[in-house]
Amino acid sequence: MNKKNRIILLIIFIGLIALSSCSLKPLKNLQNIESENTDDVDSDLIIIGFSQLGSESDWRSANTKSIQNSLINDNGFSLIFANGRQKQENQIKDVRSFIFQEVDYIVIAPVTETGWDTVLTEARDAKIPVVLVDRMIDTKDESLYVAWVGTDKYEEGAKAGLWLEEYLENQGTLDTVLQEDKSLPLEEDSLINIVVLEGTIDSTAQIGRSQGFEDIAEHHENWNIVAQESGDFTKAKGKEVMIKLLQEHDDIDVLVSQNDDMTFGAIEAIHEAGLTCGVNGDITIISFDAVSKAFDMMEAGFINVVIECNPLQGPPIAEIIARLERGEEAPKISYVEGQVFEAQNASTERIGRIY
Ligand code: AHR
Repeated sequence: MNKKNRIILLIIFIGLIALSSCSLKPLKNLQNIESENTDDVDSDLIIIGFSQLGSESDWRSANTKSIQNSLINDNGFSLIFANGRQKQENQIKDVRSFIFQEVDYIVIAPVTETGWDTVLTEARDAKIPVVLVDRMIDTKDESLYVAWVGTDKYEEGAKAGLWLEEYLENQGTLDTVLQEDKSLPLEEDSLINIVVLEGTIDSTAQIGRSQGFEDIAEHHENWNIVAQESGDFTKAKGKEVMIKLLQEHDDIDVLVSQNDDMTFGAIEAIHEAGLTCGVNGDITIISFDAVSKAFDMMEAGFINVVIECNPLQGPPIAEIIARLERGEEAPKISYVEGQVFEAQNASTERIGRIY
């Protein structure tokens, strides 16, 4: 092939690449947006941009599903879904793209509490109401969001502490809170050594659960929190941190793990270290969420108790937006209730659960 022909072929080739990239280019230039409703948008539908913080846990998948199943066309909604992949900067970009697209409402599950004022001011300036879900934001300006739906994370932490209180009492463990003479030094063997696997630092779930548990723990002189470290709400990180904690502390009595996924990782670490956990085990385990696999683990006796965090938050969000559309007032704060599930009742209490 002579030089001239080679140049012509090269030009055709470049032209073909340019054409194909044009047709592959998404309709909207949205980074991090995993899926979106590409149906012809009916102008009667309420367009919602939903910035989910990530997909780090079974709980998160159930939460996403609940919202996606509630904000459907049949209920009058058209949902644009964006996955922030655990990064606030991604979520901020997603929210900005929703503002650019002039959606009717923005729903955000914020990964961490701080750093939202600027982008939410932009949403307010664009007159787009923001509904927060699951986690809260730290702001002095409550007009930046119209409503929040989620569970009481502080109460969840306190429930964990109260369960441990009762459990130790039933075990007949000396509780120094009941000791009359507080001036007596604590016996080494009366200490209850506790490690806490925390979730993502600065997230509402981490802040609330840590504080709630600590507030109960401080009434018990012999509760000894020997370590508090983040496993970022994932199984892999939970296992990694638990391996390290087991190497650093050979006398752990209780693990408080702030979500089920970290608990699953921690259980693997405990077993690999040649220890046992859960009912009659070396390490008592308190977990949070109550996803289906946690019930399997309770039935197997590996987890003692799970404090539920109910992810089914789609229906209340749909209800709030419907009310606002009708021009009615919507509650600023809506709590979704949760229960406490113990290993001995797991097989019956799981019946009928959908996550
Ligand atoms: O904010 C709720 C927490 O986030 C859940 O406990 C956890 O599983 C999720 O990642």
